[in-house]
Amino acid sequence: MQVVRTPGSARAIARTLPRPVGFVPTMGALHEGHLALVDRAKAENASTVASIFVNPLQFGVGEDFARYPRGFERDAELLSSHGVDLLYAPAPERMYPPGFASALDVGSLGARIEGERRPGHFAGVATVVVKLLHAIEPTSLYLGQKDAQQTAVIRAATRDLDMATNIVVAPTVREADGLALSSRNGYLGTEERAAAPSLYRAVRAVADAVLGGERDPRKARSAGLDLLEPPLRWDYLEIVDPLAFAPLDPLTRPAVVVAVAFAGSTRLLDNVTIPGADGIDPILTPLRLRPLAAAVLPARP
Ligand code: PAJ
Repeated sequence: MQVVRTPGSARAIARTLPRPVGFVPTMGALHEGHLALVDRAKAENASTVASIFVNPLQFGVGEDFARYPRGFERDAELLSSHGVDLLYAPAPERMYPPGFASALDVGSLGARIEGERRPGHFAGVATVVVKLLHAIEPTSLYLGQKDAQQTAVIRAATRDLDMATNIVVAPTVREADGLALSSRNGYLGTEERAAAPSLYRAVRAVADAVLGGERDPRKARSAGLDLLEPPLRWDYLEIVDPLAFAPLDPLTRPAVVVAVAFAGSTRLLDNVTIPGADGIDPILTPLRLRPLAAAVLPARP
């Protein structure tokens, strides 16, 4: 595995790799969720590129940028053992040199739900991902469903900027008890960790209520709101449109149940999708495989 530190050297080496090229961007502190994306990229491409960059632009004031877990040697060994051909780990001063001033505006999609709680977060994500895509020029970009709104923002940004990259979204990898793997799970204390799977049970219960025929978002949400176990506290639990991330009311179309719970100052993020009657998943199914007509939810059982 080659390791490069600058956009210029990343592009020069990436251009020599056999195509198609699959690319997995990460912030390091790798776990099985990241590695599932690497394995998928490896299986579907002739070459696999990964990046590690803790992107300051997507962290807000008072967020965990300084204490975000970093362990480059371990991460690089994991990527190498999973067959990554090229690791791009840019130095922050090469990504954001003095005078850096241009960034993406991601519109109302980036200002809703997570974006409302983390102003500027999705602009920072979209800006860094577009910079990474320009350096690597991959055939396909691999993203996790875990960050569902991030996949929607990146899909929109790459489409708006006429970028040719395919977007592949892979399902969330979970612990046996349902907790979605996250680099931030290491922040959890014993009681918080024990309560953490209740977030997944809550979003699952809301999705099951909708799949069971509930069309009123207030009633569907109430099926999950009571399931969160202390000391976890709700930040939000919403049923949203999978493209715009605006709340859906009534629930007539495929949707995503998105939620965040606080465990102390740590925010735990999760979601489940509500597929349409045609079986098309509103996050996982590639856009090119979706019919233009809006899908409807399955008939009530
Ligand atoms: P990071 O949180 O390191 O995640 C990198 C990729 O792994 C993202 O696409 C994320 O959705 C995916 N991922 C995280 N946990 C997962 C899980 N449990 N199952 C499946 N996939 C999972 O997301 C970022 O970094 C950054 O915002 C980035 C896109 C790299 C831009 O800085």
